[in-house]
Amino acid sequence: MTQLDLDGLRILVTGGLGFVGSNLTERAIRAGAHVTVLDDMTVGRPENVDEALQYRLVPGSVTDQDLVSKLVKDADYVAHLAARNIIVSTANPRSDYDVNIGGTLNVLMAAREHGTRQVVYSSSASVYGNPQSLPISEYERTKTFSPYSVSKLAGENYCRAFYESYGVPATAVRYSNVYGPKQDPQNPYCGVVSKFMEAFHEGRRPQIHGDGQQTRDFTYVDDAVDATLLAMLSPKAEGTVFNLGTGIETSVNDLVTLIARLMVSDIEPVHVAHRDIDNIRRRVLNIERIRTRLRWLPQISLTEGLRRTVRWFESTVEQHTPNATAPSES
Ligand SMILES: NC(=O)c1ccc[n+]([C@@H]2O[C@H](COP(=O)([O-])OP(=O)(O)OC[C@H]3O[C@@H](n4cnc5c(N)ncnc54)[C@H](O)[C@@H]3O)[C@@H](O)[C@H]2O)c1
Repeated sequence: MTQLDLDGLRILVTGGLGFVGSNLTERAIRAGAHVTVLDDMTVGRPENVDEALQYRLVPGSVTDQDLVSKLVKDADYVAHLAARNIIVSTANPRSDYDVNIGGTLNVLMAAREHGTRQVVYSSSASVYGNPQSLPISEYERTKTFSPYSVSKLAGENYCRAFYESYGVPATAVRYSNVYGPKQDPQNPYCGVVSKFMEAFHEGRRPQIHGDGQQTRDFTYVDDAVDATLLAMLSPKAEGTVFNLGTGIETSVNDLVTLIARLMVSDIEPVHVAHRDIDNIRRRVLNIERIRTRLRWLPQISLTEGLRRTVRWFESTVEQHTPNATAPSES
């Protein structure tokens, strides 16, 4: 893990009960920060944050301009992660617009009003659509194939516009398929890693949408959190967008094989029709910019990250279902 000293800093984490947000909240508290979390709990849950850790939880929405202004006023830094996910967004683009764009605008307006030291915004590699060249650098043109990618890109553009127009220190990190502990398989957008683990655990055949040759850049959550916090703290990040990934391309077929091996399962996956949200064929990010400017590199290999995630997954399932038996043992 990167050495981070957040001693005494006041950090507002929007979406701080969600998958990445709760990992970031814990990391920030452990590094000495005073954390306030704003989350509407549509997806996030207080149980995601270790109950031994102290922080302030404010249930509410980033669409509430007065509330956002009040909370931003009391913060030195803002990590803005609250968002409608791609499934919710595809089903309800209006809600996506209100939260992902409107909520981001509220955060930036409040940061301008109160002189926040820096806002870091969680964007998405989905803004690239199907790229022209791989690995994808930040110079690649953006191509928005879903309402979700439209809104994530709009959030980034607002960060840039507020930096250029009003001098608001804001930066954006484009995540690529983050996975790891606290990624809830019940959440339809949780990503393939948790879904595959759940299927193996329950003795079901994991479903691969399409032929499984589609590739992604899978990023372990601790790495994503470290890079996000570094971007938030670094004056060099102001007004800039960073790819945040590993630079390693992995097919979904290879991913499922790896997870099966770690979970000691010989269950074969089944290929099913591809979904309307699965229209990106290949994705792997060029991470030179974040490496050179923020001196950040991912620390956790895919095998190690999956091993940690399996460990977390199995302990969580056992806690909730005392008699649960892993398929490999049945
Ligand atoms: N996980 C990934 O692979 C990935 C990839 C690209 C981008 N991102 C971005 O990273 C951020 C975090 O993603 P995640 O995977 O942790 O998702 P998540 O759904 O687990 O977390 C989002 C959190 O935001 C909260 N939220 C939603 N609407 C809100 C609102 N109106 N007001 C306040 N809180 C609200 C949810 O309850 C949840 O806790 C998001 O901005 C997402 O777009 C994630």
